[in-house]
Amino acid sequence: MALRTSAEVGGMGHSIKRKEDPRFIRGKGTYVDDVVLPGMLYLDIVRSPYAHALIKKIDASKATAIPGVLAVITGQDLAKYNLHWMPTLMSDTQMVLPVEKVMYQAQEVAAVLATSRYAAADGAAAVEVEYEALPVVVDPKKSLEPDAPVLRTDKKDKKDNHIWHWEWGDRAATDKAFGEAEVTVKQDIYIPRIHVASIETCGCVAHFDKVNDKLTVWMTTQAPHAIRTVFALVAGHVGLAEHKIRIISPDIGGGFGGKVPVYPGYVIAVAASVLTGKPVKWIEDRMENLQADSFARDYHIAAELAARKDGTLTALRIKTLADHGYADAAANPSKFPAGLFHVCTGSYDLKAAHVEVDGAYTNKPPGGIAYRCSFRVTEAVHTIERMVDLMAHQLGVDPADFRMKNFVKPEQFPYKSALGWEYDSGNYGAALHKAMDTIGYAELRREQAEKRKRGELMGIGISSFTEIVGAGPSKHFDILGLKMFDSCEIRIHPTGKAIARFGTKSQGQGHETTYAQILAEELGIPAADIQVEEGDTDTAPYGLGTYASRSTPVAGAAAAVAARKIQDKARKIAAHLLEAAPEDLVWEPGKFSVKGAPDRAKTIQEIAFAAYTNHPQGMEAGLEAVSYYDPPNLTYPFGSYICVVDLDKGTGEVKVRRFVAIDDCGNIINPMIVEGQIHGGLTMGLAPALYEEISYDELGNVQGGSFIDYLLPTAVETPKWETGKTVTPSPHHPLGAKGVGESATVGAPAAIANAVVDAMWHLGVRHVDIPITPPKVWRLLRDHGVTE
Ligand code: CDP
Repeated sequence: MALRTSAEVGGMGHSIKRKEDPRFIRGKGTYVDDVVLPGMLYLDIVRSPYAHALIKKIDASKATAIPGVLAVITGQDLAKYNLHWMPTLMSDTQMVLPVEKVMYQAQEVAAVLATSRYAAADGAAAVEVEYEALPVVVDPKKSLEPDAPVLRTDKKDKKDNHIWHWEWGDRAATDKAFGEAEVTVKQDIYIPRIHVASIETCGCVAHFDKVNDKLTVWMTTQAPHAIRTVFALVAGHVGLAEHKIRIISPDIGGGFGGKVPVYPGYVIAVAASVLTGKPVKWIEDRMENLQADSFARDYHIAAELAARKDGTLTALRIKTLADHGYADAAANPSKFPAGLFHVCTGSYDLKAAHVEVDGAYTNKPPGGIAYRCSFRVTEAVHTIERMVDLMAHQLGVDPADFRMKNFVKPEQFPYKSALGWEYDSGNYGAALHKAMDTIGYAELRREQAEKRKRGELMGIGISSFTEIVGAGPSKHFDILGLKMFDSCEIRIHPTGKAIARFGTKSQGQGHETTYAQILAEELGIPAADIQVEEGDTDTAPYGLGTYASRSTPVAGAAAAVAARKIQDKARKIAAHLLEAAPEDLVWEPGKFSVKGAPDRAKTIQEIAFAAYTNHPQGMEAGLEAVSYYDPPNLTYPFGSYICVVDLDKGTGEVKVRRFVAIDDCGNIINPMIVEGQIHGGLTMGLAPALYEEISYDELGNVQGGSFIDYLLPTAVETPKWETGKTVTPSPHHPLGAKGVGESATVGAPAAIANAVVDAMWHLGVRHVDIPITPPKVWRLLRDHGVTE
């Protein structure tokens, strides 16, 4: 896209430095834990060592004897106000504090309120809880067996652990295609539980001002308005009306979906503040964050792909078991319990597809959050990209050629997928070609053949993913009934500077910069003169928040639409100032001039001043606009990634030697920020591919509950990412932009997994589940006769 503004104005396409960084790099950000209020109390939480147990007794006497400890709050206390259970985002229910039993290890059992964080922690350690262990269900398959103990005994009519069955697509057509298929491949794929592990853990400061009857909560939330409404709906009966609730999301140190749900700690802190009239702070520690907050993935997938002998894909059939832990607290749009998993036909022109998902309860923390992905898209992409690779290898066709043959072609857009999505635009072949040229694909294949002769294990893996981001459209997407639009409100001050507020909330993505750039593009006001604010429900227009890469597709579009409303009014003011007809004016970013007389012009700053000092008779003063944007469709960013790995036959270690990532997110607002998003996203894709997993032993003890066991990659493990782009604008987005925040996390794991299998295919290895750890590879090599 050609630049329309100067570097000083800094509109779209300029790599301007992030406006928020001066405060971050000086340690001057304001995170929740930086909020300190006079008389503030502290909350710490007693957590269960058992994964499933009756609570026989809670003895708080030793805890309350500790100086500074004021109270121990239990489920019984909250039950008096009917606040011991709360709704989840998927209309299930989840305990705030238990009355009868605990359902997973590290579940909240009681909370200690104290005058200091240390006293609260000492108090939590001194609370004595008597438990009676119950049988534990860890495996979702066993959970659905007829003799499995029923976990949700609170649901009177529930006779099993099955949450829901959901299916999509044409079963008959798919079965017919499989019946007629010349070649099929079938694979079980497990995508394990992982955790977002953001740098900042979750927490809040709740302050109920008894004089003004107003609750202010500073909290780590990606969706402050939705939280305000949920609080009002859940706690309206104890007097919390929505206009008396203010949620402030200050600076957030990474959200990645993990800060969308409401956690019990928030609710207990609010209850404690309402009861005491004092501010109450609750901040999780790292282990609490890893062990008890919502998890991602945990999909047990059985996939089948059908093709003709000539290499034309024909059908996809998937059955999935989703482990949701003890409550379905996934942050999915209401209509879609399995999120957007049905984008699983990916970048391929499949004529028939059918997908089934069943949700199961187990004795684990609630799962199903959209970890840096648009509601289960990572699971979908991993499945289709593994299956396509499997089919290519099975047919003996190069995986790149195979993809090229089966891609949805540029002329097929807008493309209706077999599972009902309408892809807006794409050019998959161009991205893959560019990735192949960048990495030197043909030469790498020659090198691989040479190395194979010498017994060396080198693999090349491709992932040509399609993402689906930007929920709304509100006709399909809502969360707890709240339609998924988003908003922008702009006010231009008399001196031509501006403030713009949004319903989204940055957690490190750079919104203060990129939203200002959108407005600079549309209005010609320098980005440096535009202040962007998000995250305060008392000031920002209502929005559904930031997750699922929806900010640019939805709120970014709202910014453009609101700016265009301002431009319309500015035209009328300019016409008045220039004594010309509005239709005789020509707009270029930053000024209106008279057609044919370019010297007769008024800048946007002059127009802004006139809006308050010399506006036309009959026109309202001021220069402001608001837009609540409901996108007509989602946006479909895509990319092609190629990864080269070398396997160490002695240790089973996977070394990522090269990784080329070609991304396409349509028109780009800030290329530097997009590259940063992709770098971070790629590392977050490497993480589950090679390192991260949260598993449980048969008693439900969490494995991976600290950073000793949960292997977060650092700069040392991270390879050099080689990035590039193609640009295929979205035809329906006002700026032609698509989201990008999640693409790399979604696309990367399959490229790595495909490379590892490619390195061992000739030995007979067909699949390896992520994370691909050295012991897993070593065992595979041993089982296939390779020892060193
Ligand atoms: O919703 P979230 O902010 O996580 O995701 P996004 O909309 O994909 O945006 C991530 C960051 O990349 C934001 O700062 C965007 O403005 C920026 N971006 C961009 O500069 N150009 C695009 N086409 C897409 C995103």
